[in-house]
Amino acid sequence: MADEIKLFKVTIDNITVEVPPGTSILQAARKIGGDVAPPAMCYYTPLKGSGGKCRTCLVEVAAGSTADPRPMPKLVASCRTNVMDGMVVKNITSPKVMDARNGVVEFLLINHPLDCPICDQAGECHLQDLSYEHGKESTRYEFKKRTFKKHDLGKYIQLHMTRCILCYRCVFTADQVTNNRVHGVLDRGDHSEIATYIKMSLDNDFIGNVIDVCPVGALTDKTFRFKNRVWFTKPVDAHRDCPTCCGKVTLWQRGDEVLRVTARKDQWGEIMNTEDGKPGWICNECRFEKKKTSDWVIEGVMKVSRHSVISANKYINAVKPEETVAAVMGGRAPKLLMDIHNVSDINDPDVDLSLIQGPATGKVFEKKSKS
Ligand code: SF4
Ligand code: FES
Repeated sequence: MADEIKLFKVTIDNITVEVPPGTSILQAARKIGGDVAPPAMCYYTPLKGSGGKCRTCLVEVAAGSTADPRPMPKLVASCRTNVMDGMVVKNITSPKVMDARNGVVEFLLINHPLDCPICDQAGECHLQDLSYEHGKESTRYEFKKRTFKKHDLGKYIQLHMTRCILCYRCVFTADQVTNNRVHGVLDRGDHSEIATYIKMSLDNDFIGNVIDVCPVGALTDKTFRFKNRVWFTKPVDAHRDCPTCCGKVTLWQRGDEVLRVTARKDQWGEIMNTEDGKPGWICNECRFEKKKTSDWVIEGVMKVSRHSVISANKYINAVKPEETVAAVMGGRAPKLLMDIHNVSDINDPDVDLSLIQGPATGKVFEKKSKS
């Protein structure tokens, strides 16, 4: 019989867990869950080598181990530091950590535009969440934010370099999930940018996964851009028999329209594993080409964390509300009830937003009304 592995006891924010040797502090904290788990903007479990870049996961090690209980002199990146037996870690119970995290967020926001109102990632952006928890209402930075020349990455993926936090997740994804990486981080220092080497498109079969791993709105889905806010869409789990990938996805619907298709993600925002224990990366065909409910076998509404803005979505598990007009008018029917579709060209119910290329602009509706 194989020897049983001796588990390490680690105490994080006064809660003790047992984990196998080689587990990072971050993963041990995730085992406890909730606020004890530090935020992670660059670490991504399925991607080898990720982590160690953004410093949002800093924690205080108050005791190194049972054998050597001295505290570590500096805060450490929990995604890149492994636990020791008897280690004592402080995350939300450490004022030093909170202070450092506030500073990290301030640095991340120095160059990041505050364009959440027009950013497709709003509502599921990890930097937006961090800013709410640790950000300040104003900036101390006096200089102009960085700007970049526009860079076209092809027909599926939109790059907004000003939003990038250089976490390298998309680079690792292209390296490890596709067979031909054509993009990377070019230049150094504050000139560093995500770009392709010689104006190439990102068009590998699995390259769409860079959209899912990007923690901010730097890489977004061109087929979904500006079509809806994520909290107005209804996420449902669905699958299809795909010859290229696992075919297990989340459809983001508005009514019966499929506005967006993504891989399934867990509570940490990472791609979920399929039954065989492998990450459920999805192919471009499933993500960008299958935008009809008839393409999919619907499994049911996705579970949404109640902390997510998406859980405020009144369309999830909701019954259509009763008609209120008559109720507020003391039971009388209104004399004139305007149908917005009759008076506005931009709410045309005959325009299927999921089937048009790119964002919906006035032209889409103009063409429709002329035809
Ligand atoms: S584009 Fe997104 S995933 Fe890629 S390095 Fe920038 S922030 Fe990270
Ligand atoms: S998640 Fe640990 S350094 Fe970025």
